Amino acid sequence: MSDFKKYFPIFKQNSNIVYLDSGASAQKPSCVLDGMSKFYSETYANIHRGLYAFSEKSTEMYDEVREKVAKFIGANSSSEIIFTKGTTEAINLVASSFGRLLKTDDEIIVSEVEHHSNLLPWKNLEETVGVKVKYLPVLNDGVLDYDWLKQNISEKTKLVCVTGQSNVLGLKNDVKKIVEVAHSVGAKVLIDGAQLTVHSKVDVSLWNVDFYVFSGHKIYGPTGIGVLYGKYELLDVMPPYQFGGDMVESVSFDDVVFKPVPSKFEAGTPPIAEVVGLGYAIDFLQSVGMDEIEKHGRVLTEYLLEKLLKIDGVKLLSSKDSNSIVSFVIDGVSSFDIGLMLGQKGVCVRVGKHCAEPLHKRLGVESSIRVSFGIYNDESDVDKFIEALNKVLNMLR
Ligand code: ALA
Repeated sequence: MSDFKKYFPIFKQNSNIVYLDSGASAQKPSCVLDGMSKFYSETYANIHRGLYAFSEKSTEMYDEVREKVAKFIGANSSSEIIFTKGTTEAINLVASSFGRLLKTDDEIIVSEVEHHSNLLPWKNLEETVGVKVKYLPVLNDGVLDYDWLKQNISEKTKLVCVTGQSNVLGLKNDVKKIVEVAHSVGAKVLIDGAQLTVHSKVDVSLWNVDFYVFSGHKIYGPTGIGVLYGKYELLDVMPPYQFGGDMVESVSFDDVVFKPVPSKFEAGTPPIAEVVGLGYAIDFLQSVGMDEIEKHGRVLTEYLLEKLLKIDGVKLLSSKDSNSIVSFVIDGVSSFDIGLMLGQKGVCVRVGKHCAEPLHKRLGVESSIRVSFGIYNDESDVDKFIEALNKVLNMLR
């Protein structure tokens, strides 16, 4: 058994389950579950509002997590950390707010490997603002066409939006190269860290990215919480995205003065316990160590690929450089049938287009099967998956 399964109560209750869908959402360790429960049982109150101990303690815990997130991703200041509902809301925030600073004929470059969350908000700006979205091609080996980027970026480009790691291919993109090319024409860069953050060390300052987003639930934290990192000077000039309590210095019927970032972007009561849970999830990741986590993912991926490629008819969308996420199809067999039958055997994988329909079209496949690892997976999970897959294929062929 993986050394880490013991930290995840779901595997105690369901010892036969083979959970290989962490790319969709990761399971939660006891420290997150117990920490949130303790917070609700012992401390909980609304933040930034009460002059009593519970509220003050809750506020302190909430603000501490902002500091923790800033350090975790290498931000210079906790003011650059905005709490959102998740990756999707964080990207929508940038699209709505930064988008208001754009004008017709400005250009946004989005890669062909993006999942819908990092595609649709930009397409919406085509309709609402009249910007033009251009697509950075993916080559047949899953690597982005960086030459295309150099040739097609121009001073019209205001934003380049690319995932740090594809949720289908499992391949990391070259963030530093993208930033270098984008900044050479004055464009800003948004990196979608929905998949990357749980598998690799993130350093927004080293990479010099302008925006970075991720979700709590994919890094062993709760749902309903995500992060937008933005450089202070950008967030400072961006208009608020939502309006409500706790984001204003003063309000009259004639005038409103907004608080500075991050409060300007956190209208209303935030997901307080979820922020606290996110803090425990980051503690968990750091107690294991991001280098160790990356190594674990790579070893398991290699083991999976070796076994998978022995199965007749397997065609990989991923490659040997993929980390912890492997998608594939099997000649002549429906991915949905495979997924359904694996599910009946307690093997949890994702099948379909993984919210990345344009990428599937580009790769010429209708749908695929995706295995995605978490820290709790080990070789025995791969063995059980391969055994179940072989049984399913025997029945389907
Ligand atoms: N974007 C998530 C996934 O890849 C939901 O499954």
